[in-house]
Formats: sequence, structure tokens, C-alpha cells
Amino acid sequence: MTVSTLSPSYPYRQPADHVNNGFFGQDILSVRQFDREKLAYIFAVADEMRTLVRRFGSADLLSGKVLANLFYEPSTRTASSFMAAMLRLGGQVIPINEVRYSSVAKGESLPDTVRTLECYADVIVLRHPEVGSAQIAADYASKPVINAGDGIGEHPTQALLDLYTIAQEQERLDGLKVAMVGDLKYGRTVHSLTRLLCLYDTEFYFVSPAILRLPPDMLAEVRTRGHKAVEVEDIHEVIGEVDVLYVTRVQKERFADLTEYERVKDYYIIEPRLMAQAKPTAVLMHPFPRVGEIAYAVDRDPRAAYFRQMENGMFIRMALLAAVLGKA
Ligand code: NCD
Repeated sequence: MTVSTLSPSYPYRQPADHVNNGFFGQDILSVRQFDREKLAYIFAVADEMRTLVRRFGSADLLSGKVLANLFYEPSTRTASSFMAAMLRLGGQVIPINEVRYSSVAKGESLPDTVRTLECYADVIVLRHPEVGSAQIAADYASKPVINAGDGIGEHPTQALLDLYTIAQEQERLDGLKVAMVGDLKYGRTVHSLTRLLCLYDTEFYFVSPAILRLPPDMLAEVRTRGHKAVEVEDIHEVIGEVDVLYVTRVQKERFADLTEYERVKDYYIIEPRLMAQAKPTAVLMHPFPRVGEIAYAVDRDPRAAYFRQMENGMFIRMALLAAVLGKA
């Protein structure tokens, strides 16, 4: 579709014009949109953003641009790092993180809410409890929509920052043994990161209680793509083998039966005693929030990368915002 000069307010649906490696005007809905080349590009821009923040704190790259931050589910890191990313690039933010106080509480639909927000903003970040909600928002919006978590579906920007952190900590992405630990059934960060790691030579260890195993279709997909994928319940069996330990919270809000949650919530607790069995070169990650899975005493371990991981989230989101707005 050629963009008509009669519709200057819809400049975002141009065919991929390779501005910013094809990101300009695009939605970010799933990690399936990424290949190794696109990832390398975003990571290179994120490196530049890190340098920029360290040297100057902020820049005016996105000055005049507005982000609508629409959160139907709680968030600390994702919401505030998108906000910080936009502010550090000179843009502005409309934060809607309490939909209770917006017209959503009056029964407004998601399509109407996003069509409203795009009247005011240049890009929409959406977190919503339903799988597929970001796709629905993108179908209705003409401006780019970035999926900040759709229920138990995907969390692509988290997976990008997770992968970027692995690359930084391990200085490579091929030839790694990765253990995903905890709630592999409902954890959307696990789903997105697993798919991204399938683009690299990765061996997977899926560590969970029986009721929280990785969805069978995902496990099959990983194996079909030629990866070794081992499911275990006892973390001791793998802790000494792996290069990356990616620990997750049991997703209480996704349980229909809370007694089941109570049974599995403290299944894995990473303590210094357990870390003593891990490789000296291993890296310990967690998307946070943690609710007991990693003892505070572990924070002093240099292999604990979760606070570095969080900071990387801002650099990655700066890179993504600049890319979809055509300014990277
Ligand atoms: C994760 C999420 O929202 O999926 N948090 C985050 O974005 N860092 C993980 C979680 O809630 O457990």
C-alpha cells in the first residue's frame, strides 16, 4: 500500500522500507518477528543507548513524540522502564497504569481505548491479561503497538532484554546450556525467551514441578527445531551443568485453584548453598518480581545478574522505541 498524501496522519503503515532495519512503523507483538540479524541490530542500538545514558543521561532523539503506556495488569519494571526509555530520549508519556480510573472501568473496549490513545500518541505499549490482546490492539491501531505481556502468551520486550543480558554476561549466544526454572506453564517470559533461544545453538533444561511444565506444544516445537530439551523436577540434577539459570515466580494470578498454588509456590528456592553447586561462570537471572525464589543473600554473588538485567531493559526499550519511530 502506498501512503496517500491525503492521509498524512497515517504514516505508519508503509510497507517495510528498511528504515531502521524494517522496524519503522512496525508493531512488536511476538518474538517470532525476530531473526538473528534483527536481534543483532537491536542489541547494537541498545549498546549505543547505554553509552548515551552513561555519558549524557538523556538525548532529544524522540523529542515531540508521545508514548501511551497502557497497563491492564500490574507492572513495576516494564511500565517504568518504558517510561524512562521515552523520557531519556526526549519524548513524553501518557501513563495509564490504573485502568480502573480510565474509561475501561465504564466498559470501554480495548479497540476503542487504543483508537483513542493513538489520537494522542505515536506509539502504544500494552499489557493485558488475555492472550492475543496485543494483536487485537494492533489490528485496530494504525500506530505501532508494543506487546508488554499478553496473559500467559508472550512478553517479547522482556525476552529481548533477557537475551541481551545473556549475550553480555556470557559473551556469546551459541553453545549455551540454559535452565528455565519455576513456572514454565504460565510464565510468558519463559515462553518468549525459549522461542528466541531457539534461534541459537541452545540446550534446554526445563526445571519445574509436574503441574507447571512447559506447554507440550512448545516443548515439541523446541525439539522439532533440533534442540536438546530435558525436563526435570529436581534442580540439583542440572545446576552444575548449566551456563544460564533463568528462575521465575509461580504466577499466582493465573491459578484457578489457589490451593494448587500454595503447593508449588516454594518449590525452588535459590540459596547460597545451592549456588555453590553452580558453575563459576554461570549466570543467574530472574525477570522479577521475586516472591521468595531467590534468597536475598544470593544478591551478593557476582553471578546474580538480575539487577543488571533490569537496567538492560531500559536500554533495550530505548532501542525499540527509537527503531519503531524511525530514529534509531
Ligand atoms: C514478568 C511478567 O510480567 O511477565 N515481569 C516482568 O515483566 N519483568 C514476570 C512475572 O510477573 O513474574
